[in-house]
Parts: sequence; structure tokens; C-alpha cells
Amino acid sequence: MKLLHIDSSVLGPHSVSRQVSAAIVDRLRQATPSLDIVYRDLTQTPLAHLSGSHLAAAQGAPAPAELGPDLAASVAVLNEFLAADIVVIGAPMYNFTIPSQLKAWIDRILVAGKTFQYGANGPQGLAGGKRVIVAISRGGFYGAETPYAAGEHLETYLRWVFGFIGITDPEFISADGIQIGPDHREKALAGALQAATSLQAA
Ligand SMILES: Cc1cc2nc3c(=O)[nH]c(=O)nc-3n(C[C@H](O)[C@H](O)[C@H](O)COP(=O)(O)O)c2cc1C
Repeated sequence: MKLLHIDSSVLGPHSVSRQVSAAIVDRLRQATPSLDIVYRDLTQTPLAHLSGSHLAAAQGAPAPAELGPDLAASVAVLNEFLAADIVVIGAPMYNFTIPSQLKAWIDRILVAGKTFQYGANGPQGLAGGKRVIVAISRGGFYGAETPYAAGEHLETYLRWVFGFIGITDPEFISADGIQIGPDHREKALAGALQAATSLQAA
């Protein structure tokens, strides 16, 4: 069974989402030691923003030589995702949504004919059957009862994206209120790490 582990926080060892995504992977690895784990750090090896040349190359047009390594990364990223049975993602909230590094990754995995297709009844997801677990960290609170609910474009966005490609039941572990103060940060992190240890085994 293959597990793909993705991190996208720019805060290195200070990152909350990295600690929680690592705890999720540890929990699953302990339960299933035979897991085949691939790790991709989107800040250490960032993907370029999509360009017209990327899209033209996907249609078979000759690509500029300097795009070669990034096009190869595109293929690797998509194949990693397609091969994974489980995908664990560290996703911090930056400016109300995902980091741009994670968006660049999503731009490489939402590929017509690979993870979705348009048919007579509209779009159809092709990537169903994977288990996706997302470790979310947010500076504030965005619950439905809060005045900030309408600004939540992290979890809502990821639910939509994965639903679009057929993964309708992504799991989320959240550490919220990280910027409220040190006590709150500690409590939120401890709660998320605890939730990771209680996850259903792979
Ligand atoms: C560039 C940047 C933008 C941020 N934007 C938001 C935001 O819009 N809303 C929020 O609640 N917290 C925001 N935060 C706080 C982070 O969500 C919070 O610190 C979280 O722990 C980040 O996850 P990480 O520690 O894994 O990087 C921001 C932090 C940074 C560094």
C-alpha cells in the first residue's frame, strides 16, 4: 500500500501543519509498517506556476528547453498521486487559503483524462478510492458560528478540489487559533496531534 506525504508550509520546523502531517504518517506507519511512503516537500522542491508553455507542451507542442525539468516534475507528481492509496497533506492557511506552493501541486494533479473527465452528464472524478487526510493549521477561527466563516477558503477549497476528482470523503485534522497566543497554540497543536494518534489504521 502506497502513501504519499505532502508538506507545503514555509515555516520549516516551526510549522504546525508539518508536525501534524508527520504525526498522521507516523500513526499510519505504526499501524501498517509495510506502507510504502513517498515524501514531497513543496517548499524544498517547488513546482513552477502553470504557464502557456506548460499547457502547449501537454498538447504535444515543443517545449522550451528550460521547461524540461519542470515538465518532468509534472509527470512525477501526477504519477505519485495516481499511484497513492493514501495521501497525507500538510496545509496551512495563508491569506485565507492554501499556500501557492500547494496550489501549484494541485494544478499538476487536476488533469483532464487522468483525474477527471467531462462527459454527457458534466464532470466526472476519476481518482476515487484514495484516502486523503489533510492536516490544517489556521491562525484564527473560521467555524460556521464565527464572523470569519465566509473567509474560510482552505478546507472548503480542498473539499471541493478532491470532490471534483472523485474523492468525496477527505478527512481533516485541524489546529485552529494558532496565532491567538502561545497557550492556545499549544492546546490546538496537542489536540491535533492527539487526533492523529486516533486515526483509523490504513
Ligand atoms: C503568510 C501567512 C499568511 C497567513 N494568513 C492567515 C490567514 O489568512 N488566516 C489565518 O487564520 N491565519 C493566517 N496565518 C497564520 C497561519 O495560518 C498559522 O500560523 C498556521 O499555523 C500556519 O501553518 P504552519 O505553521 O504549518 O505554516 C498566516 C500565516 C502566514 C505566515
